[in-house]
Amino acid sequence: MTVEPILVMQGIRKSFPGVAALKNVQLRLFPGEVHALMGQNGAGKSTLIKVLTGVETPDGGEIRLKGELIQPTCVGEAQAIGISTVYQEINLCPNLSVAENIFIGRFPIRGPAIDWKTIERESQTALAALNIHIDVTLPLASFPVAIQQMVAIARALSTAAQVLILDEPTSSLDEDEVERLFQALRQLKQKGMAILFVTHFLDQTYAISDRITVLRNGEFVGEYAASALSRLDLINTMVGREIDEASYAAETAAQTGSVAADPYVSACGLGSTGTMRPIDLDIYQGQVLGLGGLLGSGRTETARMLFGIDHTDSGTIRVGGEAVKLNSPRKAVQHGIAFCPEDRKTEGIIAELSIRENIILALQARRGIFRYLPKRLQRTIADEYIQQLGIRTPDAEKPIGQLSGGNQQKALLARWLATDPKMLILDEPTRGIDIAAKLEIMELVKAQCRKGLAILFISSEMSEVLRVSDRIAVLRDRQKIGEIAGKDADEQSVFRMIAGAES
Ligand SMILES: Nc1ncnc2c1ncn2[C@@H]1O[C@H](COP(=O)(O)OP(=O)(O)OP(=O)(O)O)[C@@H](O)[C@H]1O
Ligand SMILES: [Mg+2]
Repeated sequence: MTVEPILVMQGIRKSFPGVAALKNVQLRLFPGEVHALMGQNGAGKSTLIKVLTGVETPDGGEIRLKGELIQPTCVGEAQAIGISTVYQEINLCPNLSVAENIFIGRFPIRGPAIDWKTIERESQTALAALNIHIDVTLPLASFPVAIQQMVAIARALSTAAQVLILDEPTSSLDEDEVERLFQALRQLKQKGMAILFVTHFLDQTYAISDRITVLRNGEFVGEYAASALSRLDLINTMVGREIDEASYAAETAAQTGSVAADPYVSACGLGSTGTMRPIDLDIYQGQVLGLGGLLGSGRTETARMLFGIDHTDSGTIRVGGEAVKLNSPRKAVQHGIAFCPEDRKTEGIIAELSIRENIILALQARRGIFRYLPKRLQRTIADEYIQQLGIRTPDAEKPIGQLSGGNQQKALLARWLATDPKMLILDEPTRGIDIAAKLEIMELVKAQCRKGLAILFISSEMSEVLRVSDRIAVLRDRQKIGEIAGKDADEQSVFRMIAGAES
């Protein structure tokens, strides 16, 4: 029996000024399959999805759904013909309630009015299917990013779609949530839905997908059965050159340089009632201190207290041996602390400004507006980081909003490195970053560390925390429950500690 693909894209082309984002790309989706769309940052994955869902108009090529030519011109139209999408940058409405977000654009009417009861009940059901139990009448913005992401997924699931597209849905989810999502996807697959899934996590690709399409530099490289393509082959296909296992593994070993005798930042009993229980942390120059813990364990809250964003009401902080009050980010910056936040959309990039302006932003702020950085110098700094971090753009003067997701993340990292900080807090720095770039970024972080930078590192990927950290402080339920030396730690020992067992 031959099964026909439900969706076929062929010869798709799309250019933006200075960038050929898609050159003759093809894609086939079969009913009842999970299909991974893979490629490095800027390869064209999100653009292909936008073309498919009517957000971008292609310059050429055709799309067929069940054999029929389609040309969706907006998301609503794609949705109406059965293509449902969760975009990379969650674009729901933060001020509306969770339930409103799930039903936006298709509110059920009862008599003369909107049927709020039904909306609330069905929203609850849709979220319960993902094992999320929250008050759906609260504004979406009152929930963490991970929950917002799940709401976006619930929205896509609650429409009667035949094709479901997920652009990096898991980059802000923890392992439990990923497993829940995958369970939901497996059910949908059973029902014959075709699912297209973009991720940079190789483990996830192999855990869930049947077939893989690889893009490189806007070009179609190949379509493979997941079972027939090894990890290393997949990486090499994406990158277009040989990355040997040895250099991938060697990454693990590199330990840091000379460590200062005294911590640069020392927090003692630092806490915030209702948010974070008193915590002791010592962060040394030349060392990476990792924060281990599940989503909601207090990792980001700890970072926010140290950067003066969240108010603290107990404990003390010493910086360079001196007791200080870090009651605003400005103060923190003055003390040489930098913070690369996890949510680049709301706390990070300014989409309308150029890449150059985004990169020099923090440096300029620290110098004050009266010590304006000459434009030539700004260019030099921006170009240096674009080159060092491999930010894929034709020009530093382009609006940063036009960069691919992973490249925006790199620009944000550049912003803080450019301030030449003494301590850098990295909250999920490699979220959405492709595997080759991730190795480069981690290498760069460690090189800065060897030069004497103190780093506080947060990532929901435990393997990554283990790989870079000299020490790991383990958090659970908004308190620190212990610390392990990096060389003694493995995933088991950290998870045992989190689970509360004696290790
Ligand atoms: N609106 C736009 N204007 C100009 N250039 C754009 C626009 N959208 C995308 N691009 C460019 O097209 C290329 C492909 O971007 P795309 O977002 O599709 O990459 P991606 O594969 O999704 O990457 P990532 O893994 O980082 O999300 C990039 O070079 C990007 O800068
Ligand atoms: Mg993308």
